[in-house]
Formats: sequence, structure tokens, C-alpha cells
Amino acid sequence: MYTILLLGSGGREHAIAHAIVQSPKCEKLYVAPGNAGTQEIAFNVLLDIGDFDQIAKFCEQYHIDWIIVGPEQPLVDGIYNYFEHSKIKVIGPSQAAAQLEGSKSFAKAFMAEFNIPTASYKAFTLDEIDQGKEYIKSHTLPIVLKADGLAAGKGVLILEDHEAAISAFEEMLNGKFGKASGTVVVEQFLTGVEFSVFVALDGEHYCILPEAKDYKRIGEGDTGLNTGGMGAVSPVPFVDKILWNDVKENIILPSVSGIKSRNLDYKGFLFIGLILVEGKPYVIEYNCRMGDPETEVVFPRITSDVVELFEAIVNSTLLTYQLMQRDGFTATVFSVSGGYPGSYQKGLPMQIPKYDDGHYYHAGTKKHDSSLVTNGGRVIACTAHSSEMQNAITKALKGAELVSFEGKYYRKDIGKDLLNYL
Ligand code: AMP
Ligand code: GLY
Repeated sequence: MYTILLLGSGGREHAIAHAIVQSPKCEKLYVAPGNAGTQEIAFNVLLDIGDFDQIAKFCEQYHIDWIIVGPEQPLVDGIYNYFEHSKIKVIGPSQAAAQLEGSKSFAKAFMAEFNIPTASYKAFTLDEIDQGKEYIKSHTLPIVLKADGLAAGKGVLILEDHEAAISAFEEMLNGKFGKASGTVVVEQFLTGVEFSVFVALDGEHYCILPEAKDYKRIGEGDTGLNTGGMGAVSPVPFVDKILWNDVKENIILPSVSGIKSRNLDYKGFLFIGLILVEGKPYVIEYNCRMGDPETEVVFPRITSDVVELFEAIVNSTLLTYQLMQRDGFTATVFSVSGGYPGSYQKGLPMQIPKYDDGHYYHAGTKKHDSSLVTNGGRVIACTAHSSEMQNAITKALKGAELVSFEGKYYRKDIGKDLLNYL
């Protein structure tokens, strides 16, 4: 029996918490800071997830066995290393390994070293600005510019002409994204459909979780600004056996063995964002954690005990962990605040119905006095399953329709493109 502290406050964390509390091996679950959804099934604690001393004190006092880290920032800041010599085990990669997400130039060099297919690139610092501008001038269009470090999902720019690319490049190197754009990756633009795979690593072995497709843009038909993710579907019907073997052989296996051969300490989840170009998968990005909203479709498809999955990660026994998956399709649809991903209001009263055809995972919600209010851009996701993809999508959409708060918006086309592949 384990006492667990889960860090984060999104739909991802509610979905992980929901899976954990189903297990007879969970003694007690704390979520920091959590949301109104995690509060119903676990104990929310008001900790600053960037303050490792404060977390350590809490863990001592409440006899925490494991810390499961939802978002990337504490991992990139080294929470794994902070607890490395303690009896409290962190589920997540070390600071060095988290560079796969925390530094795009690190990730690109890693892929180059292990022959993992990705867009061609060059990285430049302020000292190399002139070489960078020359490189951009002779680059094919469009041009992708990426801030090296974490930039809250805003650090990727796609430019349609050379002049605009050069001025964006200069702005980035001069601090547009602060330290995150002290180095800029200039990358070839790839055209294709995106999907993601997730791998659990225990330092020795790995276990592949169900794949998913996320919908990042705010508008229907994949238009408008990028968001954290407006919905997701799992499995992805165009990922057939041949493509799956290609992903496994040419991307997952070399990524896992590259992590080992570089001696990167990795006990957690690796999220690989892929793009399919003329039938071939390329890596768009690595993330050192699970995705949100992908977790809201991936975790509900796992029917084996997820606390045993975390136990196998901690004990390096993933080789014998039997991951079981639910057949059929799972879809999730996010209801977001009006104005998101731009500015939006918080603290609006909201109602969630009783809904038997789906499950709600809270994200930006909180209890104010005893009533439920919005507390973020992405407010709540509705996840539904069915043996038929269309049914799963219809049920998730219905769940989004039934939620009410002023200014609510959701995309009505989540998964629609995938129906063509069935
Ligand atoms: P990233 O933060 O690297 O995931 O990039 C954010 C989004 O930008 C991705 O999900 C893609 O939709 C897009 N993107 C990133 N790199 C490329 C690329 N080389 N070619 C085309 N689109 C890209
Ligand atoms: N849904 C994309 C992410 O979690 O980064």
C-alpha cells in the first residue's frame, strides 16, 4: 500500500488520480494543488510545486512513498535529483533527461546522434546571429523557429517569408521568450498529420501505452491559435500495424536505447509527438511527461492496475508488468473559457450534470465556498468510450454540451478527420 503525492492541477492529473484511486494498492492520495475534481476523490494540498523544500517537508510529515509529477516544469527544474538520495521516490525523469523537453537543441542533437527521423535543423545563439540570418535566407519556406527552452507552449513560430523569419529570429534571440529563446532552433517545416505515442520507462525496460491524437488549435478545422489541447482520441485509426512497427523500430527503440547509452536517469513517461510525412513518421518533439488532454483518453483505456504500473517504474520491473488495454475508442472534448487561449475570465459559476455516458475530468475548476467556479482556460474535459469511434465522439460532445458556464466554448469537430480512416 502506497501513500502518493501527485503534482499538478489539470485534466491530466484528475485522470491519473482517478486511475490511482481505483487501485487497492493506494493507501492515500494527495494532489498538489489539484482542482475541484481531484478534491472529490483525493486530498488536495496547497503546495507550491516549484518549492522542493516545501514539498519535502510535506512528504516527511505525511509519510509519502512516491511523488508523481504531472507537468514538465518541476522535472526540468530537477525535482528527481532533489529527492534522489531520499526514501521518497519521484516518478519522472532526472533533470538531465528532462532536457529532452526542456531544451529543443538538446533533443535535436539527441535525435541526430541516434538516427531518429526528425526535421533538419540548426541551432543558433546571439553570438551566432549573423550565421543564423544567412542560414534563414537560404532556407526553404515556410521556416519553423523554436525557442530552445520552455515557453508555455508559445515558443514555436512558423513563418511564411524570409523577412518575417529574420525579424522574428532577431526578436527571439534578443529575449522575446526571455532565457528560453537565448538559443533558437531553425527547422525545416514538415507537412503531415500529427499523433503521439507514450512510453513508460523504469531505467532498464519500457512499456508502450496506447497512442492518441490531440487537437491543438482553438478553431474547428484546425484553425486559429495553438492551445494546450482541445480534445483527443485514442486509438488512432491510421496507425496500422506497418506504421506501428515503423514507429517502434525507428523511433521508440532508438529513443529508449539512446537514453540508456547517454546514461540519462529516466523513471517516468516519455511522450513522443510525431508527424506522418508521406507515410513515414518523424519526431516533432519529446515531452518528459504525459500529455494533456491525451492522458484523459490514454489512462481510461488502461484496464490493468496503474499503481502497479508506477510500482514497476519505481522498482525497475516493467519487463513483467502486463499492461492491459480496453478495446474500442475513447474520445475527450475540452470545454474552455470564452477568450481562451487569449485572456479570459475566472471565477464564473458553473454546473456539471450527472452524465452516465461519459466521465468528467476537471482542469480549471475550483470550489468557492461550496459552489463550483471556473479557474482556468481549459475548464473541464468530458471523456467517453464506445466500440464505435463515432459513438465515443458523440457522447463526449454531448457531455461538453451539457456543462454550463458563461462563455463556454468547445470544438465540435474533435476526431472528425479520423472517421475517414476507419
Ligand atoms: P512543439 O512545441 O515542438 O510541439 O511545436 C508545436 C507545434 O508546432 C507542433 O505540434 C506542430 O503542430 C508545429 N510544429 C513544430 N515543429 C514543426 C515542423 N518542423 N514542421 C511543421 N510543424 C511543426
Ligand atoms: N497536449 C499536448 C501536451 O500536453 O503538450
